[in-house]
Amino acid sequence: MNNKQNEIKNQVKQHYGKRARQASKLTTLQPLEALRCADGTTKTDMDISLGASPNIYVRDDLLGVPSEAIASSAGCGNPIAFADLQLGERVLDLGSGGGLDCFLAARKVGPTGHVTGLDMTLDMLELARNNAQKLNIVNVEFLEGFIEAIPLPDRIVDVVISNCVICLSPDKDAVIRESFRVLTSRGRLHISDMVTLGPMPQELKEDSHQWARCASGAEEAEAYMTRLESAGFVEIKMKYDGDPQSQENNMPDLIAVKIVAYKP
Ligand SMILES: C[S@@+](CC[C@H](N)C(=O)[O-])C[C@H]1O[C@@H](n2cnc3c(N)ncnc32)[C@H](O)[C@@H]1O
Repeated sequence: MNNKQNEIKNQVKQHYGKRARQASKLTTLQPLEALRCADGTTKTDMDISLGASPNIYVRDDLLGVPSEAIASSAGCGNPIAFADLQLGERVLDLGSGGGLDCFLAARKVGPTGHVTGLDMTLDMLELARNNAQKLNIVNVEFLEGFIEAIPLPDRIVDVVISNCVICLSPDKDAVIRESFRVLTSRGRLHISDMVTLGPMPQELKEDSHQWARCASGAEEAEAYMTRLESAGFVEIKMKYDGDPQSQENNMPDLIAVKIVAYKP
């Protein structure tokens, strides 16, 4: 990893570390009060700008989930909604943040299934583990590590999910290669992520602050699909999920996507 890539990763860590620390202060909020913040406007006195797209979760699904998990949520979609998770499946969440998607996945796979959340930011891991404890949930674990070097053996999970994280990686080929490696045969990827509607200017690709807000690291849909195909994935499908978000200063518009792909 070169210096620029390290700088980007450190910036991303700082950004999400701060978000985790802010969310962990929300202990007095009820879950649905915290959710109201996800509507785009900040309704607490804390500066938490949540979620690239508002209302991405169904309220009923969030009942019983700790406010801190909801408040730290920074996804751009809801991979659980299209992952069709089955009882007993083993799931890996790349960049699990405060754990919200892991907890929703855990309900779907049940006690015979298992969910692993992987994240590099220690404050996020601590928040996710505290949230798991509050939920008294036993089929979820959170691992520290990089999505570019997944600390799991080959062919160990049935499903890889991820929510607005791969666009943050400075080495996307490694992330896709590693996802392929840990999936079982016929294992599948269900990813929510951001793509651009046009090429990202080089000077913006170097801007680690823009990178950390899930912008500069995003790439065009075609490049994303080609990466998946080159790694060996088949039956790759990508759909837009919402409306384009216009940007300033020469940055191309961004749009959330849902991606599904299979390991042969
Ligand atoms: C935009 S947040 C999304 C979190 C979560 N998926 C959600 O929907 O709320 C990105 C998360 O990915 C983690 N992350 C970013 N790049 C990573 C990397 N290269 N390896 C491991 N974790 C990473 C960050 O620490 C952060 O928790």
